[in-house]
Amino acid sequence: MDDGSLYLAVKSLHVVAVISWMAGLLYLPRLFVYHAEAKAGSATSETFKIMERRLLKAITTPAMIASWVLGLSLAFGFGVIDGTQDGWFHAKLALVVVLTAFHGALARWRKSFEADRNTHSARFFRVVNEIPTLIMIAVVFLVIMKPF
Ligand code: HEM
Repeated sequence: MDDGSLYLAVKSLHVVAVISWMAGLLYLPRLFVYHAEAKAGSATSETFKIMERRLLKAITTPAMIASWVLGLSLAFGFGVIDGTQDGWFHAKLALVVVLTAFHGALARWRKSFEADRNTHSARFFRVVNEIPTLIMIAVVFLVIMKPF
């Protein structure tokens, strides 16, 4: 496979990985909204625990790791980042670091639910659900338009 096709193949895998990562970052807070309204120890709460654990461990975390590995490969393996006109990449990286910290917070909140120790309200999770949405919009415009 020539370099050009390999670069496009890696970029395609990167986009597949970030779609999967975003799916988890957008759906997990939504599960927390309804889990926060379920009675601790109830059958509903126990079902949510299984859904949250599988969504985080089987999809969201592996997709985050793949997004980083493939994204950094594009940046430095194919010379996309060459020290000229890279402002978009620095801004994107800063936003993706915030997205990764949000992922970490989701993992902590999941552990609290698993131990029946959640203290956050359904409203709290509705509000934080907007964070990955807004970051996703900014990241996609930055990487496709490369404004600076
Ligand atoms: C996790 C760390 C990430 C790194 C290091 C990274 C890095 C990169 C790089 C270097 C490119 C190639 C740009 C080009 O060739 O023009 C790229 C493409 C892309 N990235 Fe990321 N990215 C990351 C996360 C994300 C996230 C979270 C999203 C979406 C929410 C995203 C969406 C995209 C899209 C849509 C493209 C294709 C752009 C195009 O073809 O014009 N990336 N990424």
